[in-house]
Amino acid sequence: VLKQGYNSMAQKYSNRSYTRVQPQASYKVAILGASGGIGQPLALLVKMSPLVSELNLYDIANVKGVAADLSHCNTPSKVSDFTGESELAACLRDVDVVVIPAGVPRKPGMTRDDLFNINANIVKTLVGAVADNCPDAFIHIISNPVNSTVPIAAEVLKQKGVYDPKKLFGVTTLDVVRANTFVAQKKNLKLIDVDVPVVGGHAGITILPLLSKAKPSITLTDEEVQELTVRIQNAGTEVVEAKAGAGSATLSMAYAAARFVESSLRALDGDTDVYECSFIQSELAELPFFASRIKLGKDGVEAVISSELQGLTEYEQKALEELKTELKASIEKGVAFVQKQA
Ligand code: NAD
Ligand code: LMR
Repeated sequence: VLKQGYNSMAQKYSNRSYTRVQPQASYKVAILGASGGIGQPLALLVKMSPLVSELNLYDIANVKGVAADLSHCNTPSKVSDFTGESELAACLRDVDVVVIPAGVPRKPGMTRDDLFNINANIVKTLVGAVADNCPDAFIHIISNPVNSTVPIAAEVLKQKGVYDPKKLFGVTTLDVVRANTFVAQKKNLKLIDVDVPVVGGHAGITILPLLSKAKPSITLTDEEVQELTVRIQNAGTEVVEAKAGAGSATLSMAYAAARFVESSLRALDGDTDVYECSFIQSELAELPFFASRIKLGKDGVEAVISSELQGLTEYEQKALEELKTELKASIEKGVAFVQKQA
């Protein structure tokens, strides 16, 4: 189900298909913010993974019922619930992958940066606990503003002396999922075939789909490039406005996050052919953090695929230069937030 469903970039980017039939269920995954709009469907999708043996669900409230409900699904993983800070350490012990969708979502009229004041503290506290209890885990940050919360996480891990930049990921998979969907619709392509890299960051103009690098190769007019780029950049806002005050993307986000979890687990499990886009510490674009396609391995980021930033169109090159000011400021805001409290 997962293999067919995720339209994984890992499969698209490689020449061989994913042939695992009955993998060993052996990895432990924790979701922090598990009873939220993203947390619940994400927990369901991760519960379906044959690679997961234990699924730990943490939230400040309402997680008992979610775990009880999910535990009745007859898939291999054991589901456990953890509520409140006193149970956070137990939730994180020996975990391989930690996913963090904890925090408040946007309402119409807000930017992701408007969430900073609340979510920065939440991410700081949770990542501190990750550092203390499972410092070797892959850490997937979903909480917005991702452009700042990932640098916050890095600073916390540095202060605790356990920062491994290869294992800290800002989840930008939803941007790729959206780009693939919108391009397939526009060009009448089979969805499973489409793979568009998205680089930069995860807010407004910092989201830069590289349509010229789409697979299969597509021909677009300048107007189509502009229209698709803006739609992909504003897709989060499209959902926020449609939900009219009831939150932001949850279902598509859970789908995208589950794909990124599955890719991480496959990499941990020894698959040597796993590629995703993610916002990571990077030297690719004269910024401390930058989203691009990466190769995942057992130890996290194994390689940054720099070739996709070469030979950009004039439109993409200009957009890349233009996004740097905003992205740099968001990164610096996250770093300063942790450093000034030290
Ligand atoms: P939500 O309000 O439905 O759920 C958030 C959950 O976090 C709630 O269950 C809440 O109890 C929990 N929480 C709050 N403080 C916590 C803490 N200290 N420890 C543990 N849990 C805590 O929100 P949502 O729709 O699930 O969105 C969550 C976050 O994900 C938001 O910041 C949103 O902007 C972000 N998001 C990111 C992307 C992306 O592409 N990276 C996409 C969609 C949403
Ligand atoms: C998204 O892209 O859907 C998320 O970042 C949520 C939001 O606030 O738009």
